[in-house]
Amino acid sequence: MSRKTIVAGNWKMNKTPAETSEFIKELLPEIKDSKNVLIAAVPFVDLPAALEAAKGSNLKIAAQNMHWKESGAYTGEVSGAMLKSMDVPYVILGHSERREYFADTDETVNLKAKAALSYGITPIICCGETLQQRKDGIMQSWIEGQIEGALKDITAEQVAGLIIAYEPIWAIGTGETATSEQAEEVCGIIRKKVAALYDDATAEAVHIQYGGSVKPSNSNEIFSMPNIDGGLIGGASLKVADFAALAAYEC
Ligand code: 13P
Repeated sequence: MSRKTIVAGNWKMNKTPAETSEFIKELLPEIKDSKNVLIAAVPFVDLPAALEAAKGSNLKIAAQNMHWKESGAYTGEVSGAMLKSMDVPYVILGHSERREYFADTDETVNLKAKAALSYGITPIICCGETLQQRKDGIMQSWIEGQIEGALKDITAEQVAGLIIAYEPIWAIGTGETATSEQAEEVCGIIRKKVAALYDDATAEAVHIQYGGSVKPSNSNEIFSMPNIDGGLIGGASLKVADFAALAAYEC
């Protein structure tokens, strides 16, 4: 299996540009021997500082959102063209916090994903169910629907190169992690759905991460599951020691 482990920090709305530079300078020596793909997703205003601090290192930088239009009257938004002009290689799309507070939907996530791919930016597409959906027994159909919606009209070749992050909403920032079996089950469901929508080779190639209260004490067990290719990490990625410990994972 040729998939790599991808350890991505999602800083959410945290850190100023100065704090970003300082953090990355401290982090780089701690992660230099990591065998994994390492990403820090930072607020828009921190992108220049992050790109500069990480230049030439094994830390890649991501944005946390983008608009699907190239430019126009969309106050407060940032386009893929703008991210591309800065050589931002990754963008998180459809995080549950954006779906909950900023009206992201499967349709807009799909528009954003297609736009990102057109600029050569790799999307990290998030999906995940609420606790109520899980209790109601509709987790699988919900996740499958999110995947189908987000990937609409995206080619097999493009899907093979992108990242899907499974983030159960009940495990985000709550300290409650899905068990490695629960996370593996849903990442397997996602991979099967990709196989059904495309083919086995595409499903084998796509990277699927787990996110939700991942920390150094539980990451080994989660990252070693066969269908899980690393993590999308919030809180723990804000601490140098924790980010470095997560980055040190070896399969
Ligand atoms: P926590 O790791 O803080 O639970 O956040 C997960 C997340 O939302 C990453 O995108």
